[in-house]
Amino acid sequence: MMVKDIQITPAKTSKIHDVDFNNLQFGRVFTDHMFECDFKDGKWSNPKIVPYAPLTMEPSARVFHYGQAVFEGMKAYRDDNDELFLFRPDENYARINKSAARLAIPEFPEDFFFEGLKQLILLDKDWVKKGWGNSLYIRPFVIATEGAIAASPAEEYKFMIILSPAQAYYSQEVRVLFAEKFSRSADGGVGYAKAAGNYAAQFYPTSLAHERGYQQIIWTDASTHEYLEEAGTMNIFFRVNDKLITAPNNDRILDGVTRKSVIQLAQDAGVDVEVRRVPVAEIKEAARNGSLKEIFGAGTAAVINPIAGFEHAGSTYELPKMEDSYATLFKEKLMNIQYNKAEDPHNWRFKI
Ligand code: COI
Repeated sequence: MMVKDIQITPAKTSKIHDVDFNNLQFGRVFTDHMFECDFKDGKWSNPKIVPYAPLTMEPSARVFHYGQAVFEGMKAYRDDNDELFLFRPDENYARINKSAARLAIPEFPEDFFFEGLKQLILLDKDWVKKGWGNSLYIRPFVIATEGAIAASPAEEYKFMIILSPAQAYYSQEVRVLFAEKFSRSADGGVGYAKAAGNYAAQFYPTSLAHERGYQQIIWTDASTHEYLEEAGTMNIFFRVNDKLITAPNNDRILDGVTRKSVIQLAQDAGVDVEVRRVPVAEIKEAARNGSLKEIFGAGTAAVINPIAGFEHAGSTYELPKMEDSYATLFKEKLMNIQYNKAEDPHNWRFKI
């Protein structure tokens, strides 16, 4: 698709000088522009970049009533030579359409996705700051805009991309609860999709966890609560002695891009990786006998985040402070690729 096919209306002034880039809270500040494209009469058309601004929508838009919405999370990075990169964007493109299919949302065309993304980032490129840990968080999403409240799929949608400068997602140590009562997803459900409702459904149980000093919940399988699955904002890895264990992808677990990258990096480094069910009982026993060395989360926003401790069934466990932690090692390997500081043997970097 040619650049000229995207209609661009530049912002009259930039907000960039009002932003303190050294004190960013995740997802609070947005850049000067946004990309949008509408689905109507059976096709996506009218791709445009406009100044970031509120939307006007029918109160009857189906997204408000039935949550017909999916999203993605990606990041852009600036290297030391001021070149800009994305990380495995083809994975995000494939996943937003997989999520969309599950929510009866029409597939978004590949050329619109990549050209919209590229043009938007180039227009707001000054918001991608240099430096380890700085990035531009990219949030593509699709909402059902049709004003009609019959409980059936909409015939009109809006695809958008908004951008937010980002640093760390978690600013403090993360302690987690292993879920015993609430569930995030079930077999045959939408857990694997980045459906907006998957996140809303976690807010209440997570707020109960917060009251008890835990930042996140590690969700367990809905039918038995005996197997550890994912943390909702991150996939989860367990290091038992020198082995790395993580739950397999299935109906219930998000197919995380950072997750699959960590698995690959660990295998490249000769680490024994087991992708299999992870019994709560096994992890508690490993914590008791000292073989559980680390738990860490992996996600686009969170990158790789160590878990300091966990609680399950009234017992609490602290993780040891490891000098040579896998979390640190793989975070560094991953970020070296993202920031163009290392070879990229799997072609994950995508130059903008
Ligand atoms: C991401 O990591 O990009 C996500 O979408 C998780 C979100 C809760 C911030």
